[in-house]
Amino acid sequence: MPQAPFNLVHLTDFHLFQARGASWRSFLNKRCLSYLSWRLHRGKINSPQMLSALLEFLPSLASDQVVVTGDLTHMGLPAECMRARRYLARIGPPDQVFVIPGNHDAMVASARKAWRDAWQAYLAADHHRQDSGRNSDAASYPAVRIRKGVALIGLSSARPTPPFSAAGRLGEDQRRRLAAILDQTGRQHLFRVLLIHHPIVRGQVRPRKSLRDAEALRTILHQYGAELVLHGHTHRHSHKDLPGPGAPIPVLGLPSSTADLANPDKKACVRVYTILPVKDGWRVEAHDHRLSSRGHGRPAHVTTAWSFGHTRPNIAP
Ligand SMILES: [Fe+2]
Ligand SMILES: [Fe+2]
Repeated sequence: MPQAPFNLVHLTDFHLFQARGASWRSFLNKRCLSYLSWRLHRGKINSPQMLSALLEFLPSLASDQVVVTGDLTHMGLPAECMRARRYLARIGPPDQVFVIPGNHDAMVASARKAWRDAWQAYLAADHHRQDSGRNSDAASYPAVRIRKGVALIGLSSARPTPPFSAAGRLGEDQRRRLAAILDQTGRQHLFRVLLIHHPIVRGQVRPRKSLRDAEALRTILHQYGAELVLHGHTHRHSHKDLPGPGAPIPVLGLPSSTADLANPDKKACVRVYTILPVKDGWRVEAHDHRLSSRGHGRPAHVTTAWSFGHTRPNIAP
């Protein structure tokens, strides 16, 4: 179990865009639709300035680990992946920053090599399987990091999909390994944090944006439990519960970390979960840090705090 407070920082969905320099052949696929969506819509919302301003908070947050839950890029272009890496380097060293991919990063099959190469150290688990990363994410996930009694379990739901689909899927192999990892880390009484790009509670997104095997994942969680699930993809705050073996499992999503919007539900935010050891379990406190202006000037911030109350290891009695 954690012996000391653990600060876990959550960021997500940077949607960094950089089309300049890419060959026109790069857009002879689904990317042309994402390019249009950027020009018509998302480019007016997502501003890297917001992320830069939020990162000014980071040194004051005393984070033990920062997690980024996918869609770091808008189209999975190599230049976007490198741009994301420069932001990751500002966030912290790879052993303190843990990244999983999102559907935008994996928009086309050829994008996989670009993000894996650019973020390799930030994607890395504590231990590499022999087949890690060889052919597909199905072979290299879940990726697990264990730090001070906290197990960070990264999943990859990112895979190329047809035009107009933003769906995700884990696949049977990844789910099978996840069940074994949850079982083992639960028995060790680690605080298990599941990281996944797509939301996993029914009805959170339309079918074309959903996790195809969410039902199978919920079944695994119901059997083996987890203490916390963090996701991206929805670009808004959400807090739902899923049934676990001993207690409900909190499932939380955040807005895009570059969203320059007035609506507090969708405005960029850094969240810090402080996992505090208490007798027989943990108490979790969350602090949200937002900019009070729209990404310009000094990042005077607004903090909101709330708590989950007490949690015992959420495993079968
Ligand atoms: Fe996204
Ligand atoms: Fe997404």
